Amino acid sequence: MSLDLVSETSTHTPETSTTERARAPLTPNSLRSIVRELAEQPEQWIHLVRLSTEERWYQRLVAEDDHEVWLISWLPGQSTGFHDHGGSRGAFTVALGELEELSLGGPEQGLLIRRVPVGTARAFGPEYVHDVRNTASGPAVTLHAYSPPLSSMAHYDLRAGGLVRTSEEGPEQW
Ligand SMILES: [Fe+2]
Repeated sequence: MSLDLVSETSTHTPETSTTERARAPLTPNSLRSIVRELAEQPEQWIHLVRLSTEERWYQRLVAEDDHEVWLISWLPGQSTGFHDHGGSRGAFTVALGELEELSLGGPEQGLLIRRVPVGTARAFGPEYVHDVRNTASGPAVTLHAYSPPLSSMAHYDLRAGGLVRTSEEGPEQW
């Protein structure tokens, strides 16, 4: 991930927290509401969107004690690979375009592949692992919320026996 694409511009001006105390994490449903509401206000973020042929482009829109929100763009073929969220809960919604999400179900379900069309939101708990990709023919723009803010992210390979953890990255890499 290239650092020069990340800035902490906040267009969504939350009230300043007056306490240093760590707050309880938001629920996946609350995070889903946050990304849905923001997706309905494109004037807050549409002018920030960039596209990068190198990799997915992303920018943090909100950095609060208890959650953060990221804006991400995806050209056709760009994907995350299987990853977790370091114990954070999360949600994302597709504001433009369409994505596909892969996750592992139970032993009888195997690999689950979901279309995530524009207007759809997905929310997940702290143990969730998925691979998100743009398999469509045009670009996609998504909004993602995490609580607590992401502190690490591990990557996995899907092998015959299941998901195998291959690497981990921290905030210094994004
Ligand atoms: Fe993710």
